Amino acid sequence: MSNYHIKHLEEYFQVYRKSVRNPEAFWEEIAEEHFVWRKKWDKVLEWDFSKPEIKWFEGAQLNITENCIDRHLPTRGNKTAIIFEPNNPKEEAQHISYHQLHEQVCKMANVLKDHGVKKGDRVCIYLPMIPELAFAMLACARIGAIHSIVFAGFSSNALSTRINDADCKIVITSDGSYRGAKSIDLKGIVDKALEECPNVQSVLVVKRTGAEIAMKPGRDKWLSHLLDNAYGDFVAEIVDAEDPLFILYTSGSTGRPKGMVHSTAGYMVYTAYTFKNVFQYRENDVFWCTADIGWITGHSYIIYGPLANGATTVLFEGVPSYPDHGRFWEVIEKHKVNQFYTAPTAIRALAKENLDFVEKHDLSSLKVLGSVGEPINEEAWHWYNNNVGKNQSPIVDTWWQTETGGIMITPIPYVTPTTPTFATLPFIGIQPALMDEHGNELKGNQVEGRLCIKFPWPSIARTIWGDHDRYRDTYFTAYKDQYFTGDGALRDAVGYYRITGRVDDVIIVSGHNLGTAPIEDAINEHPAVAESAIVGFPHDVKGNALYGFVMLKEIGESRDRENLRKEINQQITELIGPIAKLDKIQFVSGLPKTRSGKIMRRILRKIASNDVSNLGDTSTLLNPEVVQEIIDQVV
Ligand code: WT7
Repeated sequence: MSNYHIKHLEEYFQVYRKSVRNPEAFWEEIAEEHFVWRKKWDKVLEWDFSKPEIKWFEGAQLNITENCIDRHLPTRGNKTAIIFEPNNPKEEAQHISYHQLHEQVCKMANVLKDHGVKKGDRVCIYLPMIPELAFAMLACARIGAIHSIVFAGFSSNALSTRINDADCKIVITSDGSYRGAKSIDLKGIVDKALEECPNVQSVLVVKRTGAEIAMKPGRDKWLSHLLDNAYGDFVAEIVDAEDPLFILYTSGSTGRPKGMVHSTAGYMVYTAYTFKNVFQYRENDVFWCTADIGWITGHSYIIYGPLANGATTVLFEGVPSYPDHGRFWEVIEKHKVNQFYTAPTAIRALAKENLDFVEKHDLSSLKVLGSVGEPINEEAWHWYNNNVGKNQSPIVDTWWQTETGGIMITPIPYVTPTTPTFATLPFIGIQPALMDEHGNELKGNQVEGRLCIKFPWPSIARTIWGDHDRYRDTYFTAYKDQYFTGDGALRDAVGYYRITGRVDDVIIVSGHNLGTAPIEDAINEHPAVAESAIVGFPHDVKGNALYGFVMLKEIGESRDRENLRKEINQQITELIGPIAKLDKIQFVSGLPKTRSGKIMRRILRKIASNDVSNLGDTSTLLNPEVVQEIIDQVV
């Protein structure tokens, strides 16, 4: 019996039970029946969360691109693998078939090989959402090289940190990128980053905007020329199940980003299996995930999950507001999209616009709507359901993380009855636990606690690149024998989960995961700043926005406060990227601290949210007078 495609609720419960009673047998069956292997595994699972060590399908050999491309060629060679929808709707969309994808990926792999890229090498990809981004990542996988994709909205400083952390010797980028009516000088950002990266030997440049750019002789080369002359076939390198497929950076509670390492076989199996079920994908459906491939959502649900199922996936270069706020709905109509997966922040932004933008488009192709990245509030849920889904398409509110590789808690559409704001039930194979503050598991229903996962699943990140201790300390020490997610959650009377938000120093802004520490570090580098603290406060489009409390070196600093605010945001843009800019900056004479010197963010959060009636326990405060002063300044 195949459990690959779940079609009704009873089946979900039955398969779920099977997956937790005997995970090895369950995942072995999925892996065996739905993927191609060069060699089968010796052992399905080996794990120890105390080390932590997790190995799935050890001993197996494969190449993920044979699963995502080659095996489809006999049956789906002329089927569209990728629909590229350019930023400008006047530019023609491209339909890239599986045959063409195969050829392009092989050509790119040959170019990379000619530039010395070998199995295990790290390749940094800093590209906009264009087909070459997909070709480049898959070409790395074809060679067995490890891709490290950096979201092309990150600054040169953020880019150089990531290039150096993974010791990449090669960077793939483009002359520029389009974002709505603007174009951005990507190559200029790369050039600046590489001033800090002595080990980078080659830069391969895609021509996208045609902007005039500088090419450094001996280092920089135009890709199109190399691709034209490259051979269109490439024998896939065979890798081990546990060999790393990619590194993807996520923010943490200290300044340094965490390079999450995902391995090959488990990631492939889990993203493919979740894709099939969470979106109820059927042959000939057109799937569209609006995320950028620079985030995990794009890795797993624009590229690997869909392609492993032989699906048609949309790759959209633009933004929801260009040329007008109807763009998403226009693209759905144009390509007859069946499953649409986006973020609450985009829904909230579009819900503010005239309903005409939605109503003038035929959205009748839609069957499933997805949400990801942050809690979806009730109002946005209903707007999405009524106006986009016309009450016909179930909404899957999917909870997961960069670290989990794939969707973890989610309804299965047409299977799990949905409730607004609830991610509902664990996906097959996922064993969540809610923990109290003493480290005990809260059993039964109607409980609220910290969300952990007590058993490994195939796509859990295996380590942090170059820092296994940090991996252990961040995820496996808070609760014994549990993976700690950093989120709070409740389980209601019927066992549905609702994610209540981060319980650590990470703030989700417009669906982007931002650590407070790197932003504070950036602010503190401003010459006038002594110390700072960042907290989130509710924002009607972004979900959360950032509020900075900044203490200047000279309290009586005479410079214009507005200019200082601009400079601070400029500093953040340069060191991290515009996504981390602060909405509000308040200059303070001190920050509330405990006797041990820790900033009491809890109090600052209340002040930022305008909720100062009850500040809770302030008895451990070293400087209570500062709190009153800060409050008085606000009003
Ligand atoms: C954090 C992970 C993998 C998705 C993209 C973000 C929050 C994610 C939901 C949801 C409530 C959610 C969590 C999580 N989050 N999805 N459906 N409901 N919160 O990946 O950047 O690694 O962020 O996003 O707080 O821990 P990420």
